[in-house]
Amino acid sequence: MKLTPQQIAHFRTEGYLFLPELFTAEEVAVMRTEAEAIYAQHRPEIWREKSGAPRTAFAAHKYNEAFRLLAAHPRMIEPVEQLLEDRLYMHQFKINAKSAFTGDVWQWHQDYGTWARDDGMPEARAMNIAVFLDEVMPINGPLMLVPRSHTGGTLDARHDLETTSYPLWTLDEATVTRLVEQGGIATPTGKPGGLLMFHGNLVHGSAGNITPYPRKIVYLTLNAVSNYIRTPTRAEFIAHTDFTPIETVPDDALAQFARSYRAAAE
Ligand code: SIN
Ligand code: MN
Repeated sequence: MKLTPQQIAHFRTEGYLFLPELFTAEEVAVMRTEAEAIYAQHRPEIWREKSGAPRTAFAAHKYNEAFRLLAAHPRMIEPVEQLLEDRLYMHQFKINAKSAFTGDVWQWHQDYGTWARDDGMPEARAMNIAVFLDEVMPINGPLMLVPRSHTGGTLDARHDLETTSYPLWTLDEATVTRLVEQGGIATPTGKPGGLLMFHGNLVHGSAGNITPYPRKIVYLTLNAVSNYIRTPTRAEFIAHTDFTPIETVPDDALAQFARSYRAAAE
């Protein structure tokens, strides 16, 4: 799958591109079921909120077949190869739960701030991808983006170790206010299967979820192979150090897996 010149221009100017319903209901259903099964497990890759609810499950593409197929899917890999003009490897893979009633906030931040400071990534040439597993609504803690905020480089940030269970390099209120005055706030919402790509320097965050509707989103970071991380400090399951270029699977691989999965369950 290739992006149009208009889509590429939108990404470069605004810092993000939303492709609604890129994955089918059948493809998403199997990933949603598997995500729930993963959250029920106890393993070091699964981090919990202070309340005990699941917050994020790292590296599921390494031990789960549905997510292995997603991580190499041509509908995602090909457009990102096009934008970054390189082969790609998986820098990070996580399934964020934003659980019903208890899903906690993600403070305002830029991801490249963390990749540079904690992982030694040379440039912001890695793409963030969000794949919606549940419907993302204005009310259940959607991702909020500050359009055009990717153009100002890496901003000063503070390492916040207190607010949530997840350490994050966060931006101060004055910086966020200034950027929002310039670019506003965008909240792509929609059905399961939507795919959002956004620049590593795009400022983003999300509020807590007090609704009965969970908001599971898979976040993947695809890094250009030539931009591999130089000084990793985080666990391998958080910031991967296998820089082998991703070979895509056939376009129908996830759908075929969903069919055999359903047949086995019947
Ligand atoms: C993130 O920025 O890494 C996650 C944000 C979210 O899940 O809302
Ligand atoms: Mn982020």
